[in-house]
Amino acid sequence: MENTTQPLLFLNDILKEINKKDKLHFKRINSNIINVKKNFPLEFEELLDLVFNYYNFVHLSPNQISNDYLKMINDYRIDGLYFYKHGKYRCENQQMAYKNVYSNSEIMSYYMNALLISQILWKHHFNIYMYFQSQLKVLFNNSEKLKVLDVGPGHGFFSYLVKKNFTQYEKMDLVDISETSLLMTKKIIGYDEDKIKYFNKDIFLFDETNKYDFIVLGEILEHLDNPKEILLKLANLLNKDGMFWITTPTNSPAIDHVYLFNNKEEVLELVKSAGLEIVDSKSFIAEDVDEETANKKRITNLVGLFCKKK
Ligand SMILES: C[S@@+](CC[C@H](N)C(=O)[O-])C[C@H]1O[C@@H](n2cnc3c(N)ncnc32)[C@H](O)[C@@H]1O
Repeated sequence: MENTTQPLLFLNDILKEINKKDKLHFKRINSNIINVKKNFPLEFEELLDLVFNYYNFVHLSPNQISNDYLKMINDYRIDGLYFYKHGKYRCENQQMAYKNVYSNSEIMSYYMNALLISQILWKHHFNIYMYFQSQLKVLFNNSEKLKVLDVGPGHGFFSYLVKKNFTQYEKMDLVDISETSLLMTKKIIGYDEDKIKYFNKDIFLFDETNKYDFIVLGEILEHLDNPKEILLKLANLLNKDGMFWITTPTNSPAIDHVYLFNNKEEVLELVKSAGLEIVDSKSFIAEDVDEETANKKRITNLVGLFCKKK
C-alpha cells in the first residue's frame, strides 16, 4: 500500500464509522471534507498526515476515534441545549473547567482525540489554518529567527506550521495546563535539540522574563474568567515589534468554555482594550451562513486575528 493513500483510507474508515453511528452528523462533515479536499488538496494531505501519524503512534483505531469524536459531539449538544435556553455557557468558571475537564485524564483524552480530528473535519477549523499560513507569509519574513510562545497548544498545529515556515526560529516554548493535552503536542511537534520546551503549567503561573516575537493563543480566551488579564500579562512578554496570533469562537457552547463572546466585535474590542492594535482579522463561520445570520442565530464564528502592541 502506498504511504499517501494510507492516511486517506484511515480517514475513510473513521468517516464510515461516524456514518454508521450518526448519519445526520456524517452528512454535515462529509460535505466539508469534499470542499476542503477540492480547495486545498496538498494542505489537507499534510494535516491529515499529522493526524494519522498521531493516531497510529498511540494505536487508536477508526472505531475508537469515531466513538471519542461522537462523545464530544454529544457533549456539544448538551452544552448547546443549555446555552440556547439560558443564553450563557454551562461551565461557570475556569476553576470548574480545570476540575471537570483539564485535570481529568479520561475526559481530556477523548476530548483531545476528538478535537484533533475536528481540525480537518470542520471547515472553520481547517480554513483558519489556511488563513494563518497565508498571513504568515504576508506579515513576516520567513528567515526571521523567531522566539515563539504557544499557550494551550493542544494538538499544536499552529506551532507545527510556524516551525515548518520559519526554519531558522530561535526557540519555541509551549505551555499547557493539561498534561494529557501536552503529551499530544509533544508527539505532534516533537523536539529540536534544546530549541523546543514544553511546560505543563497554567499560563497565569508561567514566569518568564525573556520576551517573544510571536505569541500564539489558539482557542484560549473563551476558557478564561477574565480573558483581558491574559492579554495584559502576555503583552508584557511580547517584544516591541512582536505579534500575537489569537483565535477564539463566538457562541460556542462546550464543556470547558467559560467566557461568552456574542460576536466578532466583542472579541476585537477586548483585544483593543488590552492596548493591542489589530493588524488583520477574519471570521470562520461553522455553517454555511453569513456573519449577520450567524450572530442572529448564535452560530459559532471562529475569529482569527493578528495584533501587536500600539
Ligand atoms: C481548545 S484547546 C486549543 C488547542 C489549540 N491551541 C487550538 O487552537 O485549537 C484549549 C487548550 O488550552 C489549554 N488551557 C486551557 N486553560 C489554560 C491555561 N490557563 N493555561 C494553559 N493552558 C490552558 C487546554 O488544556 C487545552 O489544551
